[in-house]
Amino acid sequence: MTEIIKINQLTKRYGTTEVLKGINLTIHQGEVFGFVGHNGAGKSTFIHTITGIIHKSSGIFKIKDAPDEQIDKSKKVMGVMPDVSNLYEHMRGIHFLRYMGKLSGDRRSKRDYTILMKEVGLEGAEKKKIKTYSFGMKKKICIAQALLGNPDLIILDEPTSGLDPESAIKIRNLVMRQQKLGKTILLTSHNLDEIDKVSDRVGILSDGVIKKLGTPRQLKEETGVGISISVRTKPTLRKDDIQMLSKKLDMDVTFVESKKEYTLLQVASDEDISLLSKELIESGVQLYELKVEERSLEDVFMNTK
Ligand SMILES: Nc1ncnc2c1ncn2[C@@H]1O[C@H](COP(=O)(O)OP(=O)(O)O)[C@@H](O)[C@H]1O
Ligand SMILES: [Mg+2]
Repeated sequence: MTEIIKINQLTKRYGTTEVLKGINLTIHQGEVFGFVGHNGAGKSTFIHTITGIIHKSSGIFKIKDAPDEQIDKSKKVMGVMPDVSNLYEHMRGIHFLRYMGKLSGDRRSKRDYTILMKEVGLEGAEKKKIKTYSFGMKKKICIAQALLGNPDLIILDEPTSGLDPESAIKIRNLVMRQQKLGKTILLTSHNLDEIDKVSDRVGILSDGVIKKLGTPRQLKEETGVGISISVRTKPTLRKDDIQMLSKKLDMDVTFVESKKEYTLLQVASDEDISLLSKELIESGVQLYELKVEERSLEDVFMNTK
């Protein structure tokens, strides 16, 4: 696997406050990497540091093959949407993109700029001045700007915060399309559901370091967040039945509640679901429905100290 970003012991201090305390991270080509952390955790600081917007305090990092002292070299391969951006407010949307495109060596035809605007959800706003754009529209044009010059590495800081759900889905789909084109995407978000859906791997930034790192599934399993399942059976299962089952199978099945013909349970692993359903059927209970409630990254996040 080709390494696109490699970071070793990266730190960043503002005065005496150390925001990044030693980040180690490798991101591979073609990955969508989700960077999460609470407000003020240092996500933007991290992005600003590795994109050369601000200077690191110590440590080293490499983007593609360029070491951080030669950050200008790597600027050609990356498209960045920082969380704040200086937009040319007096320009019309499409003129701004064409102008920025020229600066970044974008080879798109005039018509393709219109397509780009459509891709980020700005159709109809091409000729409007950026100063008349709403917050969400400004955000979208910043995302479009990050795609100019066809960069291999796309870095998006909170691309969907403040967007309406439909726009956010549009941006998520755009990220996945870019991945299909072979791009590497690093994005931050505090929407954990979104990060879960779009990311191959996730890093949780806390106390200045990456506290947890892995695929969304790995993180959920590691945290030991139980799996919630609801079963519909005849007869409806009650607390006593579950306690007996739990004993018999020698595993932790927790009775949560009974609702009409449904019973809500918690088990520890995927295997337990399989064993439990087998046992139910063998014991003569009629099993009509078994639904697994997805574990959420939120649970993982809340368990990260
Ligand atoms: N230019 C700056 N000078 C001093 N402190 C800063 C500066 N920028 C950010 N910080 C501080 O660094 C911490 C991390 O901020 P930031 O990287 O914006 O977090 P996040 O993007 O995760 O919300 C915060 O405590 C913030 O106040
Ligand atoms: Mg931020």
